[in-house]
Amino acid sequence: MDLQAKKIALRKIPHGVYIVGVKQDAQLNAFTATWLTQVSFTPPLVALGIKKDSHSFAMIQQGRVFSVNLLGKDQKALAEHFVKPATVVGEKLRTVPHRPGATGAPVLTDAIAYFECEVREIANERGDHAIVIGEVVEAGVHRDEPALTLVDTGWHYGG
Ligand SMILES: Cc1cc2nc3c(=O)[nH]c(=O)nc-3n(C[C@H](O)[C@H](O)[C@H](O)COP(=O)(O)O)c2cc1C
Repeated sequence: MDLQAKKIALRKIPHGVYIVGVKQDAQLNAFTATWLTQVSFTPPLVALGIKKDSHSFAMIQQGRVFSVNLLGKDQKALAEHFVKPATVVGEKLRTVPHRPGATGAPVLTDAIAYFECEVREIANERGDHAIVIGEVVEAGVHRDEPALTLVDTGWHYGG
């Protein structure tokens, strides 16, 4: 395989940019994610690719819930904030207004919209990212605006 072609082709998959919130017992965390897509209407399911060595993956395995916060076109700085790994779990959320959603996962006050999921399956033994399948159990819209995409940011995650 032409590795350069693989990289370029995979990076052409269109992606959004989200802040995924997680909860394990009383602990909350959130991180920037882009590998997310809907995979069923009934029930409403989404699949999220999540790095197996992240703090958030350990928390999602235990807590079994997550929130997906959608950002507006002018909120790249917020996505940048959540890219760094948690040094102290919860630290990244300290300075960002949020509230507990119906599942307890953090919902960002400034997100344009959000949905919350309960984890139904975790798969992908071979990959460095797990596939977490979540059922959407709650949703809300704060501002009905176009969402931030990976192309808007000029960043890459994939290849
Ligand atoms: C543009 C971009 C997209 C990302 N998308 C994902 C993703 O879809 N899944 C994932 O697990 N990590 C993704 N990351 C990496 C996480 O944001 C990063 O590993 C983060 O530090 C994890 O935080 P935590 O250790 O506090 O859980 C992405 C990073 C960037 C810069």
